[in-house]
Amino acid sequence: MIIPNLPGPKAKAMIERDGKVISPSYPRGYPFVMDHGKGSEVWDVDGNRFLDFMGGIAVVSTGYSHPKVVKAVQEQAEKFLHISSDFYHEGWIKLAEKLDEIAPFKEDALSFMTNSGTEAVETAIKLARYHTKRSNFIGFTGAFHGRTMGAVTFTASKAKYHGGFYPLMNGVTHAPFPNPYRPVIYRRKGEDDGEAVVRYMENEILNQILPPKDVAGILVETIQGEGGYIVPPDGFYPALRKLCDKYGILMILDEVQCGMGRTGKWWAIEHFGVEPDMITSAKGIASGLPLGACIARKSVMDWAAGTHGNTYGGNPLSCAASLATIDLIENGFMQNAAEVGAYAMDALEEIKARHPSIGDVRGKGLMIGVEFVKDRETKEPASELTERVVELGYERGLLMLSCGKSVIRIAPPLSMSKSEMDEGLKIFEDALTAAEKVNK
Ligand SMILES: Cc1ncc(COP(=O)(O)O)c(C=O)c1O
Repeated sequence: MIIPNLPGPKAKAMIERDGKVISPSYPRGYPFVMDHGKGSEVWDVDGNRFLDFMGGIAVVSTGYSHPKVVKAVQEQAEKFLHISSDFYHEGWIKLAEKLDEIAPFKEDALSFMTNSGTEAVETAIKLARYHTKRSNFIGFTGAFHGRTMGAVTFTASKAKYHGGFYPLMNGVTHAPFPNPYRPVIYRRKGEDDGEAVVRYMENEILNQILPPKDVAGILVETIQGEGGYIVPPDGFYPALRKLCDKYGILMILDEVQCGMGRTGKWWAIEHFGVEPDMITSAKGIASGLPLGACIARKSVMDWAAGTHGNTYGGNPLSCAASLATIDLIENGFMQNAAEVGAYAMDALEEIKARHPSIGDVRGKGLMIGVEFVKDRETKEPASELTERVVELGYERGLLMLSCGKSVIRIAPPLSMSKSEMDEGLKIFEDALTAAEKVNK
């Protein structure tokens, strides 16, 4: 069913006011103006109901305004809103204890709390330099790590994130991210595309451009998000771990989008059987309240008092929301993400069989990418078709977001039910069918 006259009159009026006072740099999608949400459903200011396949860019892990998260925030708000990171409070300690318990390495974990993903990445960059006393890094093409000066230097998913902002941070070299659907490095017999990339990094980067003794860390999104929801091949992380161990380089994983139960495990790296030295988290960690964390092995987070800090680190409201969120993820939603994700992957394979414009379906848990191509042989990205599907989905009551050149990401709340997934996929296929007709 197509929702008539989108955006409605109230939404239109607000968008006009917004345009007069909000920075024009925000990359707005379609004209959705939020009124309220519940679970995986949202309503706009004109009373139109939508199902949500994007969860506020993979943030609303427990669904919109889960009563347990709301209650935790309300109770904390009654007590105190802020104390500053110069002092102590129990919510902050409890959260760090929980992060230590679920961190993807055996060694004890220490956490530095931040207000966002990019600040968590910034923390990891600074800590890596401080700990190793080395200054250079390797990042990956297609990566998104945020937009502050350090993080944006690693970000390499769109040239416009760099344009106009030079000089960026010194000392970042990019390697190609291992993309099994679009490999760029020649694969030797017996290697997978991930192992081929690590061989390239050692032979072409560390031996020819960047001496390993000057490299503090390798920063990588465990599953690439904004760059196209790309799952690297199984051989990549074991080979990367070996490379890091060989040269004393820190393995830093950005789990801001793929972590916190989204892939059906606490951290995406758990799918690959490798332990990193540091991870960054944010987005789904607190169901939408601003919170990030840089979680590092105790032996790595060795900086002295005063070397790094922030005013709002361990904000009591965010910590309360996070503890309630983690509890919900642990007690059902992570399992649900695994089950509903597998169910959606099967359904999407069936949809792919009916639509040659779908080149690839990939993902883990509720982090799924559907890549559109003009031709399955040439794999030429179908960017216009992708944006059209997003737009026609919106008109039919489904919120989606694209990523990469021609990928739609499916990243709903981890609480999404199978029947909601069915409803969403039905709209998705209707939108795709309509978009394919327009594109002919
Ligand atoms: C993998 C990853 N890292 C870092 C960030 C930056 O997080 P924030 O927007 O909270 O600064 C994002 C945001 O999309 C992300 O997806």
